[in-house]
Amino acid sequence: MISDASISDMFPALDQKIGGQKLVYLDSAATTQKPKCVIDAVTDYYKHDNANIHRGVHTLSQRATKGYENARGQIANLVGASRAHEVIFVRGATEAINLVAQAYARPQLVEGDEILITEMEHHSNIVPWQIVCEQTGASLRVAKVLDDGSMDMDSFTDLLCEDTVIVSMAHVSNAIGTINPVKEMCTLAKKVGAVTVIDGAQAIGHLPVDFSDIDCDFYAISGHKMFGPTGIGCLAGKYDLLKEMEPWQGGGDMILSVSFEETIWNEVPFKFEAGTPNIAGAIGLGAAVSFIKEIGYETITSKEDVLLEYGRTVLQSIEGVTLVGASMNNAGILAFTVKNIHPHDVGTIVDNAGVAIRTGNHCAQPLMDRFGLTATCRASLSVYNTTDDIDCLAKAIDQAITILG
Ligand code: ALA
Repeated sequence: MISDASISDMFPALDQKIGGQKLVYLDSAATTQKPKCVIDAVTDYYKHDNANIHRGVHTLSQRATKGYENARGQIANLVGASRAHEVIFVRGATEAINLVAQAYARPQLVEGDEILITEMEHHSNIVPWQIVCEQTGASLRVAKVLDDGSMDMDSFTDLLCEDTVIVSMAHVSNAIGTINPVKEMCTLAKKVGAVTVIDGAQAIGHLPVDFSDIDCDFYAISGHKMFGPTGIGCLAGKYDLLKEMEPWQGGGDMILSVSFEETIWNEVPFKFEAGTPNIAGAIGLGAAVSFIKEIGYETITSKEDVLLEYGRTVLQSIEGVTLVGASMNNAGILAFTVKNIHPHDVGTIVDNAGVAIRTGNHCAQPLMDRFGLTATCRASLSVYNTTDDIDCLAKAIDQAITILG
């Protein structure tokens, strides 16, 4: 297995000091650090191949197009899509879900229809559905989360009914790390004829995803949470559904022909990619896929599982620290509170020790409400973390308790 040092050496930003202390980056759920191969892919593209895609016969345009379309193929392969054209490039998981809400759901929802989500969604998988409910008269239903942070499958099953048109759920919770049984949830949803959407933003950087095996209709991905650049992500969708959908944005590249009398849409996936896309981002994302394949999900998940277990043991041994929603099935997230200290104060003090964690509601306010909290501290792991990082976190929390507890 590749050594810890060799993995962290691949990430230039990890090699720095914060306030005189070695940086310990435990905020990968907000965004992962980027390996050198991703940074180089983006830089090389701008240095050598920069041109617009699908529009030029010249060499640079052809190189750029090839890089962009190769990246699509790499993503399709990583997520187990049946063909590259099932992958649409978007800005991130947020845009992917908005695309489904506006281009798939909005034209068909009517009053009385229901959209089922869960209590553990982050705002990106709540607000787009609230908007489409407002636009169509459909209603939002919310399945409950159990005290240990796992999905309440009874609540989920009870809420599925003949009015359920769409079911949308996180594969992995960004705030507490729960891995949901998405395949089972999709099977249940399909029994009532619902279309299924999975928010995979927090999953794909941590565990293997098989879109075809899960058998969902749409799967949303954020590049920046899987070692890729910001501003790029994907929506994987069943080809037949994508084909039936109308475009959601108009502009160049999403058309075959335009006249003032009639415009004809391009084919899938291009009809959903209006305007000049984030070409460098897509190429960087392709490099991130290569990085994941090089390291291997087996290494990623086994390393993170060991770290998670270690982190839980260490944090639980600190008096005053309480883990939040720590279900057994978790993808690398340690959510916790520290008695009598506001999470933001914890975050500031641990930052002084060089430790980066996220504090607040993690864009998941309803989930915080569910646990009767306004905020938590969240240490989120990735393949480049080590047990030393957890020890630094624990030491820094001790300092916070000494100062403010
Ligand atoms: N959704 C991102 C997070 O979990 C930004 O921090």
